[in-house]
Parts: sequence; C-alpha cells; structure tokens
Amino acid sequence: MTTTTPRAVGSPLARIEGPAKVTGAAKYAAEYPVTGVAYAWVVQSPVPRGTLTSVVVDPLTEADDVLAVLWHGNAPKLVQPDDPELAVLQSDRISYRGQAVALVVARTFEAARRAAQVVRLEIDAEPHDAILRVDHPELYTPETVNPDFPAVTEAGDVEAAFAAAPVTVDVRYSTPALHNNPMEPHATIAVWTGDDELTLYDSNQHPPGVAQAVGGVFGLPAEQVHVISEHVGGGFGSKGTARANAVLAAMGAKVAGVPVKLALPRQAMFSMVGYRTPTLQRIRLGAERDGTLTAIDHQAVEQSSRIYEYAEQTTVATRHMYAAPNRRTGHRLVRLDLPTPRWMRAPGEAPGMVGLECAMDELAAELGLDPIELRVRNEPKAEPESGVPFSSRHYLTCLREGARRFGWADRDHRPRRRREGSWWIGTGVAGATYPAMAMPSTARVRRAPDGSVEVAIAAADLGTGARTVLTQIAADELGLLPEQVRVRIGDSTLPKASVAGGSSGTASWGWAVTGACRELRNSGRDEATFDTTELVKQLEAEGKHTYGAHFAEVRVDADTGEVRVSRLFGMYAAGRILNPRTARSQFIGGMTMGMGMALHEEGVLDPAMGEWVNHDLGEYHVPVHADVEWIDAEWIDEQDDELNPMGSKGIGEIGIVGSPAAIINAVWHATGIRVRDLPVRLDKLLPHLGD
Ligand code: MOS
Repeated sequence: MTTTTPRAVGSPLARIEGPAKVTGAAKYAAEYPVTGVAYAWVVQSPVPRGTLTSVVVDPLTEADDVLAVLWHGNAPKLVQPDDPELAVLQSDRISYRGQAVALVVARTFEAARRAAQVVRLEIDAEPHDAILRVDHPELYTPETVNPDFPAVTEAGDVEAAFAAAPVTVDVRYSTPALHNNPMEPHATIAVWTGDDELTLYDSNQHPPGVAQAVGGVFGLPAEQVHVISEHVGGGFGSKGTARANAVLAAMGAKVAGVPVKLALPRQAMFSMVGYRTPTLQRIRLGAERDGTLTAIDHQAVEQSSRIYEYAEQTTVATRHMYAAPNRRTGHRLVRLDLPTPRWMRAPGEAPGMVGLECAMDELAAELGLDPIELRVRNEPKAEPESGVPFSSRHYLTCLREGARRFGWADRDHRPRRRREGSWWIGTGVAGATYPAMAMPSTARVRRAPDGSVEVAIAAADLGTGARTVLTQIAADELGLLPEQVRVRIGDSTLPKASVAGGSSGTASWGWAVTGACRELRNSGRDEATFDTTELVKQLEAEGKHTYGAHFAEVRVDADTGEVRVSRLFGMYAAGRILNPRTARSQFIGGMTMGMGMALHEEGVLDPAMGEWVNHDLGEYHVPVHADVEWIDAEWIDEQDDELNPMGSKGIGEIGIVGSPAAIINAVWHATGIRVRDLPVRLDKLLPHLGD
C-alpha cells in the first residue's frame, strides 16, 4: 500500500462501462444470446373491469409455431405472492385495462405477436370508474403511506391559526398521472434448468429482490433463482420490484420447455409497470405580515388500483420543510379501475413539493416579499414534527448561494414586468428535499496475487454510475488505483444488496464495500465480507435529508403562450459528492424530468375507455435537449458524519423535487398567470395572456 496514490473519491472518473455501452458490447436483458429461445407476447385486457370467461385460440395460429397460449384456465398455479401484481394468469378477475390476461409463446417473435393479436377473449365487462375527484364517495384514509409513514399528522390548532392569520393562501394544485419511461423497457429471458433452477436475464433495480419474488411464486428459495442484470437502461422506480414480465417469462418457459424472452413493448409500459399517481392537493398557509408561518395544512387526494393499495406519501415532505406551530398533513385514497400506481422518481416528494413550493411562492407574492426571504424566515431549528435535530441542513445555503450563482439579486418580484420582443420573461425559485437513507447490504472483497481486488455485491447500475463510484470507494479504502479494482454487480448470486431506489444505493452499497475493504486491510487475509445490517439498524432515520434550491428562467410567447426554459439551475447540499461527473448527470437528469413534469408530461385519461390515450412516446411528451437552453447543477461540499463512512447523501431523486415548481413560479413571474394544474401548456396560458 502506498500513501501517494491519488484519491479516487471526489474525482470525475468516467463510467467504467461507458466504452462497452457506446460500442454496443454491453448486454441488456433481452440481448443475451440464449440457444433455442422462444418469444412471448402478452395479451392485455381490452376492458378496465370484468371477468375473463374464456380464451379462444384461432385454429390457424396453431400451425404457426405457437408453443403455448396461457391464461388462467390453463396456466400453472403459482404460490400467492406478497405483491398481487405478480399473481399473473391466476384469476378470471380483470382489474384494469392493460392487465396481462394471456400469454402467447411462439418460436418466433412475429408468430407470438400475431397469435396474440388474433386470440379471442370472452369477457363479461362491468361498468368501471376511472375518475379521481376530491368528492369521490369511496375516498378513505389509508393506514400508512409509502413506505410506512402515518397518513395523517396534526399539531397545534390549525383552524384557529388560520382564523387569526392576517395573511392566508388557500390553493389547489393538481398533478397528472406520469409514466416511467426508461429507455430500456422491462424485459426478461427465462431459462429453466430442470424443475427447480431458474435463470433470469432481467432488467431491474434489485436482482436479489427479483430472485426472491419470482422464486417465491414458483415455490423456490431465492438461491435457486439466478437473476442477471448486468446493465440496466433506466428504471426510475418502475423496476424496483419484480414485474409481471419476469413471472410471465418464467411461466412461459416452464410450460413451453424452452427458454423464453419477453420484452414489453413501449405501449405496455403505460399499464403494466406502475406510474405516478395523479394528485389533487389543497395547501393552506397562514402567516404574519412579516412572513412568519403560523399554520400549514397540506392535504392530498390520490388513487390506487383494485388489486393493490399503493398509497403515495405526497405530503410527507411538508412535515419537515418549514417551521410553523400549527400544522396538518393528510392523504386520502380511492381505488379505481385503473392500473396500480407505484414508485416513480421521488414518489411523494416530486408532486407534493409542487403544491408546497408553488403555494409558498403565492404567499410571497401576497406579502410582497422575496420568495427566498420568505423561506429564510421559516427555517426550522429541528424537524418541526419529530423534534429531531437535522444531521445537516444547508437549505438556506442552497437558496442563497444558488441565488448568487443564478443571478437573483436585482429581480423585481412583481410579475409581468419584463418583456423582450414577443417574450414575457420571468424567474422562479423553489426548494427541494429528499430523505437521505441507507439500507442493509453485504459486500465481499477478494485480493488477487497481483494485488488487484474484486469487489462483489448484488447491486444494480441503472445508468447512475454505481459501478464507477463503488470502484472509487474501494480504491481509496485499499490505497489502489481504480484500474486495480474490479466491481462485480448485477447478479443475484453475489452478496446481498439493497434496491437501487430511494436514492440510497451508493450510501448502502458503498458502506458495505467500505466495511469489507477495511476488514480485508485489518485482517490481512485475501478475502473479507461485510454486512451493514446491524449498523443500519442503529441509524436514526429521522432528521436526515438532502436539500436543494431550484432556479428557473422562462420565456413565454405573448402571442402563442409557448413556454421556453431559457435557464434551469440546481444548487444542492447532498453530503459528500463522491463523483462530480456522475453526480451532475444525476442532478440534471432529475431536473430534466422535473421540467417534463412542469411542461410536457401528462397521462391523458379517457375515462370511457379507462386508459391513457397517449400511451406511447409519440404522444406522451418527454423533454429533449432542445427544450432547455441552459441547464446546470452545482453543490456545496457538505460534511455530515452521522450518515455512513463516506458521508454521502442520495442524489438520484432530488433533482426532480422542486424543479417543476421553480418553472411554474417562473411562468407566473413572467406572465402573472398561476397555472395550478400541471402541466403548464399553452392552452392554459393563452386565454389569460391578454396583450
Ligand atoms: Mo426510486 S422511485 O426510489 O427507484
């Protein structure tokens, strides 16, 4: 070991698998060459609610290389899973349009698709209900919201405080259904060896979790399921747990007696893999004339499906963002005849902070106060609801330093003041927060005779740079160069890792890797394994958050209502930044999705059909490079010793929190128009633009 080795952590090491990816050598799930593979195509329900009485196979397709047509009438019986979405082809019940109701397996992709198209479904359809509304008679308060927060919290006397407050804001914001659209769709190749060994090449965020879940439905222990997920083309939460495609591929392979490949077509991604629930929010703020908040009330209405209760934590961030003696948050849910919403990047925080941060902007306008100053005046000394001190909170630093770098000082806080040619120009700010978490993981390190090491952990790299940053962490712990470290991930047979989710991957896996490296060093042996379970248990969960401030400058065309984002800037306090190159990419990736949330993305529901009509990338608009003229992220170096040995917080999700609100607030500042129903489209601005 040498003390002169340059430190790898903190350096902008390029993605280790980058060359393999750009040359096409890196294999994604559906690309593994498997001899004799057959192809599966999912038949999806054409109705949102009813019972499937029978599936009639077109006799002509029998000749067509078709190996199996499975439905609940003939599919193998599965062990009841924890996640009812994995109980595929087990029941005649149809709970949403797009639900998998049959599976065709054929020798060729074309034959599978064709047979699926001509399969006849006999269905007793029933009336359905697909409309979320605040007065829905079946709204209820769930026991907890994701992952296990109380659904309702209350402190002080909110109503009395509102009645007494000299200034109040009482506004409703809504966010639409949003759909996870990773570049790589969900895909699986399933290969059985005998009856009790299953290999899955599967695109997911958690190989050990997928092994356990898919093994579970087939009555196999996780050790008998080998999940390989070497490269994953994005997930954003939709691949955080096993999806129906993995079970269907395994079932098809079992029945057909050959390996089976199933890649979801893009259109199926809008119903089969979760989406972000729409939200209907009401935010009430009460304040003194100097801007001191006396009351905060944030209520959210959201949806889930008939078969699974997913209760999103929309108003949880409001519990710890600003000080106020009287406060209330709540969630109500209705189960509709629609697909199940699940995790999508910053589930809860992303839509919830639209409501809170836009309402704060409205209050600042009401008071004639700089929106940054309003936030400064309501900075809590500890977590307002739990009373737990923050392990570190540099939110105000983000606001102030972000303002300086963005150029905020000379801003006229009144709206509709700046016009250049046909453009109204405005700027907006919004706060960001996301929990800093860690989850139990185990890593193994082995030293080779040449001094190089192999680090092994069953983590997944979604394109975030996980493999790269784990290399950096191990290199520094062992005094090696990154080239002397080989990181093996993406394989469920490696030591158990937590999910690549909750912005917790690097904190969780990096901790295990650090522990294993230290053990290797201290023991002098050639192999060491380290499990963080006990250490993570001792962590106080509360009071640990990442913070940020988002700044946007927009131009709105006075004649057409077209919105252009001329500048989008994020300033973060996210613990120690381990790799500035991959971190910046995570931040601006999140901000880009936030821009999509503000301006482009919307699942447009056809209530009569019970589905989103724009279920492809031609009509579901996601932002592209041309949609922003300048985008950047910076951060302060934050020292926080209460987190993990690296001192890192999560960076994967905070970029999408608050960035939509900054853009919406900027649109108001440019035009004087408050758009409270996302996304901001020109048809919502045009009637109010005047001349
Ligand atoms: Mo993220 S929605 O926690 O994968």
